[in-house]
Amino acid sequence: MPETPAIDVSGVKVLFQTGGGRAVRAVDGVDLTVPAGVFHGIVGESGCGKTTLARAMIGLQAVNEGTISIAGRPLKDWQANDRKGLARRVQFVFQDPLGSLSRRQSIQQSLEEPLVIHGMGNSADRRRRIGELLELVGLPQTALARTPRSLSGGQRQRVAIARALALEPSILICDEPLSALDVSIRAQIVALFAELRHKLGLTIVMIAHDLAIVREICTSVSVMYLGRIAEAGVTEAVFADAAHPYSQALLSAVPSPDPIVEATRRRVILAGDPPSPSNPPSGCRFHTRCPLSFERCSREEPMLRPAPHGGIAACHLVESGVHGQI
Ligand SMILES: Nc1ncnc2c1ncn2[C@@H]1O[C@H](COP(=O)(O)OP(=O)(O)OP(=O)(O)O)[C@@H](O)[C@H]1O
Ligand code: SF4
Ligand SMILES: [Mg+2]
Repeated sequence: MPETPAIDVSGVKVLFQTGGGRAVRAVDGVDLTVPAGVFHGIVGESGCGKTTLARAMIGLQAVNEGTISIAGRPLKDWQANDRKGLARRVQFVFQDPLGSLSRRQSIQQSLEEPLVIHGMGNSADRRRRIGELLELVGLPQTALARTPRSLSGGQRQRVAIARALALEPSILICDEPLSALDVSIRAQIVALFAELRHKLGLTIVMIAHDLAIVREICTSVSVMYLGRIAEAGVTEAVFADAAHPYSQALLSAVPSPDPIVEATRRRVILAGDPPSPSNPPSGCRFHTRCPLSFERCSREEPMLRPAPHGGIAACHLVESGVHGQI
């Protein structure tokens, strides 16, 4: 029997009503299965719906259509019957740790709070658990008396990760957890995520702007465009042989670790900005910017289909067996 996926997203739409009449179609029909134990990256231009999708996955954002299941159980069911159980399964790591840590609380209080809310042990047990958490994320005991503001950005993100891990969740959803950090310390936090995944057997979904980091640590990747998944698969396969013209353009910006491939790398710059998510183009929503667009593209929306790299892509060329190359 196939293993129950950690996260299953099916036909999910999230629309935001704005004053102007038309709704912003932030997530516009996403299907995504994240198997247990993988490190899944979600990439795409600003505004394509990554944060909205991630927030929907943990129930921080209501969906207009579709279903999301965590560990085989619909999110709605978790929310109606077992909110605490949901919090012990899946946790969110935000871009800005200051947003998830109370400025007035000491680090000790920040780490103890979820344990108290969930009635985890007596005060000696909690002290022991806090010690374990500090060790897991590589912080000294002396951090406990500090407040978030008195720590460096990297230390603060370590605290936010420790707090997210307090209840021993099996899934972490992280929205650009590296972007607010100095470039010099990003590598340390990247290494921490990789280590935690192995040590704790976590499933991690990470939204990231830095495609080189995604290539380095994510085992699988989804590329989003204007509220939908354009392509997904095993990271190395997608980076080496992207089937969707949008992914080809996006990934062409990333240096290859293979010097032979790197020597022939061609950077593709897409013309124009992404269209408005309030009024996505007809047919393939990428057709207004796609160098390979043909007549059918503006008429008919391509569905996600198996791609030559073993994953899936939504492009008529892939469907008809042609490997388009921009
Ligand atoms: N609360 C909201 N009300 C109205 N529109 C929203 C809201 N949240 C997001 N949007 C819009 O939905 C679309 C998707 O936003 P989202 O934040 O999910 O994108 P993103 O891919 O995370 O972008 P970025 O890379 O800049 O973080 C954007 O057009 C955004 O302006
Ligand atoms: S379906 Fe057409 S417009 Fe869309 S990505 Fe493929 S070739 Fe380009
Ligand atoms: Mg975002």
